[in-house]
Amino acid sequence: MKSAAAHDLVINGRSLRVSARDRRKSLLTYLREDLDLTGAKRGCGIGACGACTILVDNKPLRACRTLVADVLGHGLTTIEGLAPADGGLHPLQQAFIDHGAIQCGFCTPGMVLTAHAFLLKHPEPSRVDVRKSISANLCRCTGYQQIIDAILAAAPSYRK
Ligand code: FES
Ligand code: FES
Repeated sequence: MKSAAAHDLVINGRSLRVSARDRRKSLLTYLREDLDLTGAKRGCGIGACGACTILVDNKPLRACRTLVADVLGHGLTTIEGLAPADGGLHPLQQAFIDHGAIQCGFCTPGMVLTAHAFLLKHPEPSRVDVRKSISANLCRCTGYQQIIDAILAAAPSYRK
């Protein structure tokens, strides 16, 4: 990942200059309304649901509770940047499809990125580990079991 100067951001591998005005914005608003990266969703808006989760230096962060200024100089990944540039899906995204882990899809970007960060660090997780890893991301549709199945199915792709 490219590094960014203190006044810049790298988002999905693309370096951006951030104006003084934009630095004061909510990160979620900036992503969705200024950069048209609408994968991160606005659910609760108070840091409680995980729908707005993105990755900052591969760690999950709730964009609704973060100012742009707080992430200057860091590398951000949104769901739009997870898949390879050739247009295919990331193995974790494919696993979500294969296991029926998406219904309305509102939680899915945050769920996938949370799981991605987890699997980068824990590529051989137990079912309990996976359940704990997504325990702060809410899904009103699936009952979670298919999501856990998908994450477990994708885990081998994270093993070197
Ligand atoms: S919208 Fe950010 S945690 Fe719910
Ligand atoms: S699929 Fe609808 S909220 Fe999770």
